[in-house]
Amino acid sequence: MLGSCFMDFFVGMGGLELHAFSHAELDVCDYQKLAKKFVEIRPELVINCTAYTAVDEAEKNRDLAFRINAGAVGELAKLCKKIDAVLIHFSTDYVFDGRKADGYKEDDLTGPINVYGESKLAGEKLLKENLQKFYLIRTSWLFGKNGKNFVDTMLKFGENAVKNNTELKVVNDQIGSPTYTHDLVKAVIGNFVENNSKLPFGIYHLTNSGICSWYDFAKKIFEIKKMSVRILPVTIDQFPRTAKRPSYSILLNSKLPASRPWSEAVEAYLA
Ligand SMILES: NC(=O)c1ccc[n+]([C@@H]2O[C@H](COP(=O)([O-])OP(=O)(O)OC[C@H]3O[C@@H](n4cnc5c(N)ncnc54)[C@H](OP(=O)(O)O)[C@@H]3O)[C@@H](O)[C@H]2O)c1
Repeated sequence: MLGSCFMDFFVGMGGLELHAFSHAELDVCDYQKLAKKFVEIRPELVINCTAYTAVDEAEKNRDLAFRINAGAVGELAKLCKKIDAVLIHFSTDYVFDGRKADGYKEDDLTGPINVYGESKLAGEKLLKENLQKFYLIRTSWLFGKNGKNFVDTMLKFGENAVKNNTELKVVNDQIGSPTYTHDLVKAVIGNFVENNSKLPFGIYHLTNSGICSWYDFAKKIFEIKKMSVRILPVTIDQFPRTAKRPSYSILLNSKLPASRPWSEAVEAYLA
């Protein structure tokens, strides 16, 4: 999802020599092929949008999640260091446990509660250990084109609920900041790519502004689409998932301003 959004932006920008790879073209776990690409291209900037993002499946696919979300990030960091390239990498609110009442700043203590979060945190550590010139951007609850995301899922479930005259149950006790890939990519390019960024290397939180529960998020989607879906708020205990999720994973954007309110971003996505 995020990678294709970067492509949408970059294709329209001039002055760039762009090299982009799909999973099929370049497996980040194939270190030999990866190293060969670095020799061929000698990039000045690398943007890693790859990840193992199946949060529930990660509980049983721990090794694969760690290979992609941690091992490959360490390898990318080493390769960038060799040629003095900058690495932009993405991480998640799921590196936190979600128990801090006022949200998380960039340097707050991490404490993942599921395998996906553990693997992303391991990637953060390998990045920091192997490279100094990095921008590590944590974001949350992504939605946008070309990917599995909550907005599209709700539209599908909502249509079914209307058709079958059933009620849709959505979790109301997990709170986060939905973030539109378009707004995230715009902020990343504006802050870290254009004009040879002078921002200090390190960790940044970047999300849309405002917070909500999944229930609020779903309600907003149906309101925008004018769909009269009967929607019932439920607790996470009534809706158990394989992987635990943090209940209040708000990323405080303390170094850069957050993007427009999440509800405006959903409207823009659905327009
Ligand atoms: N989605 C969210 O809600 C969310 C929230 C917070 C942070 N993030 C972070 O944001 C970043 C982008 O996430 P996203 O939502 O865009 O993820 P996504 O839609 O799942 O995309 C991940 C991409 O990585 C590719 N990939 C997986 N394994 C690979 C490998 N070994 N080699 C090369 N490519 C590989 C996938 O290809 P295949 O599909 O072919 O496997 C897919 O194209 C990730 O770092 C993620 O952790 C996401």
